[in-house]
Amino acid sequence: MLSLIIDALWLMLPAYVPNSSAVLFAGRTPLDLGRHFVDGRRIFGPGKTFRGLIGGTLAGIAIGLLQQLIRTGTHIGVPSFEPISVVITLALGAMLGDLIKSFFKRRLGLERGAPLPLVDQLDFVIGAWVLTYVFFTDWFIHNFTIPIMIVVLILSPLLHLAVNFVGFKLGKKKEPW
Ligand code: CTP
Ligand code: MG
Repeated sequence: MLSLIIDALWLMLPAYVPNSSAVLFAGRTPLDLGRHFVDGRRIFGPGKTFRGLIGGTLAGIAIGLLQQLIRTGTHIGVPSFEPISVVITLALGAMLGDLIKSFFKRRLGLERGAPLPLVDQLDFVIGAWVLTYVFFTDWFIHNFTIPIMIVVLILSPLLHLAVNFVGFKLGKKKEPW
């Protein structure tokens, strides 16, 4: 059970880091450049910026590369990564999942930062999974077994809330979720 949890966290780390670090990189220029959708609301909203997307993605890739160094260095019992490619789809997919989530939040009339329970906590998981599955199907099926996926689906929302609470307490985040 413990090794299942460690495997799950290790595999997901390149997807976790982008999501929680985007707030630290947050810039001013929004990805939608302030433009509105046909419904008159913002396309993504002011909470999705170029710097957040790029900084978050690069932070996730950096962690993934570090994990590969650790892995080749010590051979502890953690799942392997393919070369950088998988790390990129995990990190970028996480940020894209978050971005697509914001698109739909705006369509629902939800303002920036308004909570959308479970969706807010799992958007990046689904994004990372879908993008990685599309590009590296065999790798995905081999590493993300059903038990691993179940652990990820249970742990991610809890971790996400915990990290956001810390970010809120440190004054980095406007909302505690
Ligand atoms: N952030 C960013 N760029 C991104 C993602 C996040 O700059 N691509 C920063 C923004 O400052 C954002 C903060 O990280 O406010 C927290 O991210 P998140 O909770 O995903 O955004 P929300 O502000 O809650 O916006 P939304 O309602 O669209 O989810
Ligand atoms: Mg939010």
